[in-house]
Amino acid sequence: MRTLLLGENSMLQLLRLLQDGQFHSGEALGAELGVSRAAVWKQLQSLEAERGLRFHKVRGRGYRLEMPLVLLDEASLATGCQHWPITVVEVVDSTNAEVLRRLQSGQSAPMVITAEQQTAGRGRRGRQWVSPFGQNLYYSLAIRIEGGLRQLEGLSLVVGLALAKALQQMGVQQTALKWPNDVLVEGAKIAGILVEIAGDPADACDVVIGIGVNVNMPAEAVGIDQAWTSVSAQLGCLVDRNALALKLGDNLAHYLEQYLQQGFSSLLDEWQDNHAWQGRSVRLSAGDRHVDGRVLGVNASGALRLEVDGVEQQFSGGELSLRLRDDS
Ligand code: BTN
Repeated sequence: MRTLLLGENSMLQLLRLLQDGQFHSGEALGAELGVSRAAVWKQLQSLEAERGLRFHKVRGRGYRLEMPLVLLDEASLATGCQHWPITVVEVVDSTNAEVLRRLQSGQSAPMVITAEQQTAGRGRRGRQWVSPFGQNLYYSLAIRIEGGLRQLEGLSLVVGLALAKALQQMGVQQTALKWPNDVLVEGAKIAGILVEIAGDPADACDVVIGIGVNVNMPAEAVGIDQAWTSVSAQLGCLVDRNALALKLGDNLAHYLEQYLQQGFSSLLDEWQDNHAWQGRSVRLSAGDRHVDGRVLGVNASGALRLEVDGVEQQFSGGELSLRLRDDS
């Protein structure tokens, strides 16, 4: 007798069969998975309700995904990444939170957790990071820092460089870095970074580097309150998130090694070459306090240099936000 219900894993198997965006008959899908057509239909309804996916159903042709997907493939990521173990989870509150939980329960760095969907993706300054199923890259890397973390700014700026380089290698032109760690393309945000620390930053500690990249998210996505773009919008095609995750890993390994051995100052010029807002008039805010000035760049530890009323001032700190001024 044929199984009527599909388990959690089979739900992903069903999605793998449908990710090409082509029509597949309920009968063929059922045969492939060893379940009834009714079980396939039920699972498609769950995928719509729980994962926010949309299917077209056409009598005589079957089902197809409204928008094709490239699902993450843990086996090929594990084979392709030599730097650290990488785990793909289907749905999680936040990949950063998941890494922090794993560290707390005794798993050791380095490790990467990446997910198809985040239900409570975290952005900087307590904001939400929009994280729909199967469309973007949600990637959290834990690394161990033994000698104490001298300057968090420097670390997150270096991560921005690695991310920009990975995007360039995927073919995205004109990436630029906004202090402290957004990646922009022609002024629109394509990726963000959230660094969190477990342990004592003055001693041995684990650092969780959370990276979110807009990859295949359609333009009508809701909940983003700033100008944004995606890798697919830049390249005009569906993008392989596995390829991006591997390039990101290679660049993170390379840049973090240089940063840990030689410090941020060894990467300062390269960061400056990629700086989005050099010379621009900006407003720097911390809560309801703000400073207006002109961007001079960053210093050797990654702090922002601003000319304020003709005098240079330097700023650092994770809760700061930077905006272009209208007269910029
Ligand atoms: C920002 O620009 O505000 C930072 C966004 C960081 C989002 C990533 S997605 C993967 C990781 N997990 C999270 O919950 N946040 C980071």
